Amino acid sequence: MAQDSEPFADLDLSPAEFRKLGYRVIDAIANYYATIRDVHVFPSRTMEEVAVAFDEPLPGKGQDPSLILDAWSEKVVPNTTHLGSPRYFGFVNGSGTMMGVLAEALAASVNMNAGAWKPAPAATEIERRTISWIAEMIGYNPDCGGMFVSGGTMANLTGILTGLRNLAPYDTTQEGLQSEQREGRFTIYMSDHEGHSSIVRVADLLNLGREAVRRVPSHEDFTMDVHALEEMIDEDTGRGDRPFCVVAQVGSINVGVVDPLEDLAKVCESKGLWLHADGACGAVGAIIPEKKSLFRGLEKADSITLDPHKWLYIPYECGCILVRDAEKMRRAFSMTAPYLRGTLPTEYTGLDYLEYGPQMSRGFRALKVWMSLKHYGVEGYRKLLSQNVRAAAHLDSLVRGDPDFEALHEPELFIYSFRYVPRDLQSSSASKDRRDRIDSYLDRLNQRIADEIQLTGLAFLMTTSVRGRTVLRMSICSHRTTLEDVEAVFKKLGELGKTIDQKERATHELV
Ligand SMILES: Cc1ncc(COP(=O)(O)O)c(C=O)c1O
Repeated sequence: MAQDSEPFADLDLSPAEFRKLGYRVIDAIANYYATIRDVHVFPSRTMEEVAVAFDEPLPGKGQDPSLILDAWSEKVVPNTTHLGSPRYFGFVNGSGTMMGVLAEALAASVNMNAGAWKPAPAATEIERRTISWIAEMIGYNPDCGGMFVSGGTMANLTGILTGLRNLAPYDTTQEGLQSEQREGRFTIYMSDHEGHSSIVRVADLLNLGREAVRRVPSHEDFTMDVHALEEMIDEDTGRGDRPFCVVAQVGSINVGVVDPLEDLAKVCESKGLWLHADGACGAVGAIIPEKKSLFRGLEKADSITLDPHKWLYIPYECGCILVRDAEKMRRAFSMTAPYLRGTLPTEYTGLDYLEYGPQMSRGFRALKVWMSLKHYGVEGYRKLLSQNVRAAAHLDSLVRGDPDFEALHEPELFIYSFRYVPRDLQSSSASKDRRDRIDSYLDRLNQRIADEIQLTGLAFLMTTSVRGRTVLRMSICSHRTTLEDVEAVFKKLGELGKTIDQKERATHELV
């Protein structure tokens, strides 16, 4: 039997075939964006229903590329939750810039590996420049170290590990946590209500143990109590522990607050601790002139997490870590091997990102941020971020103006939590026992409202827990969300609340 002739060129696409398929892809994306305001935000399908769409055998023989693309519109899009919709308010998920989409395709085409300079000269310099721009935008040292990583969790890991490696009293890089010199526990501090679970994940991944994260009491307004922090650090030190890091929330997960950065910086400086600002959600808010005062002291943080895939609307994945002193990153992560350098240094070498962070091979994430930043400029971003802040403030005013809703906090940035509480259940004069029963009924009611609005397809939002109660939460970080979107969603929430409440109370002796 005749052998196929090598090099199997037909396994790549010809330029003409590629162009044809590529135009089809661009048309599909452009049509998608043309309808993004009207899509059913959540597919309302069960896991089994989605899985069955993809239940097919391993392809033994290659398939026609145009049939493969058919699957995109027939199977993928109908089973998609549309984070790009202006009425998607789940988790803290950004909406995805269009320039970012084009950048993803271009970055994939050149397939540079930004772990080292040689396989990625342009990618490395674009990353270095973009990191510096981001630092400059938020008023941080533009000569800082930093890089793009997969997301906020990895950025928090990189920042906190840099702190540990630079502050530990022995060489944790060589000896790890098994050093004979190790005494006491390395401890991390974050606020009790708003501290983020990714910090617990970091302690876990670093094998410090989840208990190494100490929860510092917070004030009524959900910000960390700095006095309580100092007391905890002193107490732990007295017991023989080794406090090394304070994590400040900069745009917290439930209510979007910013911890008192200036005061925390003072505490860290006086006690020799690393200040890590978890600004995954909110750090970029420092570019909004009216919010500037909230971020005073951010420039003093030793490291900052800032997620472009959240409030810079960059398509997934894209987190970012900034470290004020780049050399500290190198000290924490530097590692080399003959096969990583390949040659003796020549004039044709440069920054090898693999020496400054946890990843070796790395994608060209910087391109989508670089292109989006050039497209909008800082001015454009300022308008979009301010629009989100105004939308959250508007939602707050709607909540406060409606007798069947309860406001729980002032909106600082774009994350807002609130509760549906039918007016006849708001009395605070009820006995403790009755109040408890009402509260657990309200917990269920608010959960049902969130579940039901997802199923309507009009909007996607979720619940969270604020001071132990289940509440509605909207994270308004889509560059497409308008005040009218917020009004339409709020109206629907009120209608759902009323309908579900009436049904529940007709069938159950609830309160
Ligand atoms: C404050 C904060 N930090 C860290 C993270 C983790 O980010 P990622 O999901 O990108 O890992 C999040 C995620 O929402 C967050 O809100």
